Amino acid sequence: MTVDRPLRLGVLGSGKGSNFAAIADAAALPGYPAQPVLVMADIPDAGILKLAESRGIPARYLPPGRFRTKLDEEAEAAYVAALQAAQVDLVVLAGFMRILKGEFLRLFAGRVVNIHPSLLPCFPGLAAWKQALDYGVKVTGCTVHYVDQGVDTGPIIAQRAVPVLDGDTAESLHARIQEAERALYPAAVAGIARGEIAVKGRATTGFRP
Ligand code: GAR
Repeated sequence: MTVDRPLRLGVLGSGKGSNFAAIADAAALPGYPAQPVLVMADIPDAGILKLAESRGIPARYLPPGRFRTKLDEEAEAAYVAALQAAQVDLVVLAGFMRILKGEFLRLFAGRVVNIHPSLLPCFPGLAAWKQALDYGVKVTGCTVHYVDQGVDTGPIIAQRAVPVLDGDTAESLHARIQEAERALYPAAVAGIARGEIAVKGRATTGFRP
């Protein structure tokens, strides 16, 4: 994906928005090749919306519809319409806790990325830092990947390792992973915006964080 202007990012989140804030802070620096132009959340009081508003970035709560883990058809259409109206080039999932499916991914094919708090393909799904702690691994981390029809299965763009320390709690480990996420996600989005990343089947090339 290459455009001769800053890439327009549509950011979707459900939580406090620390990944969004890291990208927005990077985008405020000269030369960053992408700009968040719209932030949407499926939870009315999600912190990400307040962080966006405080930065002057349009922010909206959009109801997710009747399902618990995915958007229903009507909600999906509303999300798509808002992203298209904002002329979004790349959809950035930043703690968006709903699975995106069929029509959404067809319309934004190859243009949806996610950050996941483990070294995929280990520990997909919910509370990945807790899964890692419970399993007893010595190293975990975070992964930026393209989104496909599966859950946390798309081509991997970038990863950063985080050691699991003796005495770690779920909270302390998650905090350390989130610190790594805040460095990795803005760098990976910049790599995409600069057209550095090529996808061949499952493999991506060109990105060196
Ligand atoms: C992040 O740790 C992200 O990796 C995780 O949600 C958190 C959101 O934090 N995402 C997932 O678990 C997706 N499967 P944030 O709202 O502070 O960016």
